[in-house]
Amino acid sequence: MIIGVPKEIKKDEHRVALLPVGAEILARRRHRVLVEKGAGIGSGISDAEYRAAGAQIVRSAAQIWKRADMIIKVKEPQPVEIRMSKEEQILFTYFHFAANKPLTYGLLKTGAICIAYETMVGSDGTLPLLTPMSEVAGRMAVQEGAKYLERPMGGLGILLGGVPGVDPAHVSILGGGVVGTHAAKMAAGLGANVTILDINLERLRYLADVLPANVTTLMSNPANIREEISKADLVIGAVLIPGAKAPKLVTRRMLKLMKQGSVIVDVAVDQGGCIETIKPTTHSNPIYDVDGVIHYAVANMPGAVSRTSTYALTNATFPYALDIANKGWEKAAKGNNTIWTGVNMLRGEVTDAAVAHAFRIKYTALEEII
Ligand SMILES: NC(=O)c1ccc[n+]([C@@H]2O[C@H](COP(=O)([O-])OP(=O)(O)OC[C@H]3O[C@@H](n4cnc5c(N)ncnc54)[C@H](O)[C@@H]3O)[C@@H](O)[C@H]2O)c1
Repeated sequence: MIIGVPKEIKKDEHRVALLPVGAEILARRRHRVLVEKGAGIGSGISDAEYRAAGAQIVRSAAQIWKRADMIIKVKEPQPVEIRMSKEEQILFTYFHFAANKPLTYGLLKTGAICIAYETMVGSDGTLPLLTPMSEVAGRMAVQEGAKYLERPMGGLGILLGGVPGVDPAHVSILGGGVVGTHAAKMAAGLGANVTILDINLERLRYLADVLPANVTTLMSNPANIREEISKADLVIGAVLIPGAKAPKLVTRRMLKLMKQGSVIVDVAVDQGGCIETIKPTTHSNPIYDVDGVIHYAVANMPGAVSRTSTYALTNATFPYALDIANKGWEKAAKGNNTIWTGVNMLRGEVTDAAVAHAFRIKYTALEEII
């Protein structure tokens, strides 16, 4: 199979979908790997490294889209890329179709086979290609929060871990899933006093077992949230209700309970955020102030640590890419339910029920087609 890796062109996107070692393994299996010139630069990977691994460096994205049987990407195809995609070409990337009408209709027209990272479900019911980015964002939330707590950044001037003889900061984490757990580990590791809130008691029991002693677990309800945010130096929003907008756990009025110079990092901003006063920001302008509380709400946090994110993402995606390359998408999907659940669209038919529902398009079950 010819596998194409174009350079990502979405603004602020510096990740790349394949590592040199991935190119090496594919080449060993007699696949041809085309990597666009400079595709790895944003993640600190040179063309020479890909070349040494057996990939061919191609100057133009158009050539890659024209020649490749499978395109591996990170972000959803941009308009110029949609125009270059073609019938029966496998596109393996994040799409988030339900939130993007032009993308959905554009790719339906081309007849490409779209296998979406974000809908692939593992045998344990988790989303294996979303988890690595939540791990990155959760850990990064603490790093960003610590930075904006510094006085020159407008924060309270508090060191998360304190020092001997001085209290550490108080960190409240709303949501104890992947993001929340990784944030709690980081904040606790730095020495902060951490409280993690969730509505799932089983989850709280598990977290109480595995997290260190400076993490307290607490049932998420309005009274506990009010109490927590009034003593917090840093609040991290990490809730998710699958397929729905995030619930507003901290309202505009509740914000007044928070300290001047305290910081909110709402990681859940990509689902609308769990803080009423949150609105999405960018890496070039990440924060704003409401009532003296710093709000950080970057919707693509992992993009800032592109090298770590590239390695974390490709660790998770590569085994599936290899399987699809070796067997062809149809055989790979039939043999692996995780790949099967990723097939959102093929030959102009929508095969994902949620995407079809979002745009009231006809849904065709994959088993009716293959
Ligand atoms: N901004 C970014 O760059 C970025 C990156 C990765 C993930 N995210 C987002 O972070 C959010 C969390 O992702 P995740 O992978 O941790 O999800 P997850 O499903 O692993 O965890 C979500 C947790 O929220 C809990 N929850 C639901 N309602 C709650 C409530 N009312 N109070 C407290 N807890 C509640 C759930 O029980 C669950 O444990 C998602 O919106 C995800 O899209 C954002």
